Amino acid sequence: MDLLGVHSVDHFCVAVPDLSKAREFYSAFGLAPAAQGGELALFDAGRAHRWGRLIEGPRKQLQYLSFGAFADDMPRFAARLEQLGIERLKAPPGLDDDSIWLRSPQGHLIEIRAGDKVSPNEPSAFVADPPASSTRGTFCRSEAPRVYPRRLSHVALYTPDVGASIDFFRDVLGLRLSDRSLNVVAFLHGVHGSDHHLIALVTSPGPGFHHCSWDVGSVQEVGLGSAHMAVSGYAAGWGCGRHVLGSNYFHYVRDPWGSYCEYSAGMDYVPCGTDWQATDSPPEDSMFLWGPAPPQDFITNFEI
Ligand SMILES: [Fe+2]
Repeated sequence: MDLLGVHSVDHFCVAVPDLSKAREFYSAFGLAPAAQGGELALFDAGRAHRWGRLIEGPRKQLQYLSFGAFADDMPRFAARLEQLGIERLKAPPGLDDDSIWLRSPQGHLIEIRAGDKVSPNEPSAFVADPPASSTRGTFCRSEAPRVYPRRLSHVALYTPDVGASIDFFRDVLGLRLSDRSLNVVAFLHGVHGSDHHLIALVTSPGPGFHHCSWDVGSVQEVGLGSAHMAVSGYAAGWGCGRHVLGSNYFHYVRDPWGSYCEYSAGMDYVPCGTDWQATDSPPEDSMFLWGPAPPQDFITNFEI
């Protein structure tokens, strides 16, 4: 494969002030948090992959974002860093020294690690069919099933310079621009086939963690998930609605630290080898196609 680019978001790592609160929140969301050596590992309910690490810290703060790459590409990434004059950092204590660690000029600590491609190779199944004739399409509220996201879809990071971050993630990690909204937000996909965005970049005075987003299979599941979160004490958020950039149906649940956890269904997919034509449209025309207005502080970075 000639293309040099990371293929997946392997996992994110965020410090939070209270791991027991995190455990309650992500369990209610439908994930499977597990205590591991004094931290919380965030798995999907099927335990297919560890998508997140939550460590205890004085306040919520993004620690690093880890990207997966094909093992054969690791020496090429190392050579690229050298060619671009980017310093290769030592791994943080206890983490993988075989990985490539670096910091973006915008302040994001990044890991590139050899690992399985955990982003999908085709659009994820999306159920939109009306019920068959002579069957009921729904059930009583008391019988509503729980929603268990299938996988991480993407992570949204705050950045002090959206344009420079687009360049960094393109030139160093090989991600490509899917769409952007001026210098407010941008969405990047992987060259080996991924959802419309593996990462989103959101303008802010400093770096930080805006949200993690989780793939579910229908608008119904977006709604059921949001309803379950509301009765579990997590009613604050934004949704349900449909994004323009990425086309996904969404509901964002506000976490206990002012960032968000998103249910996402039906996102656009960019197959390997596609020359996706990026658009640039103002936020009022592209943030959402329909749905309620976002909360006033939706892109307030509480980490700074
Ligand atoms: Fe999102």
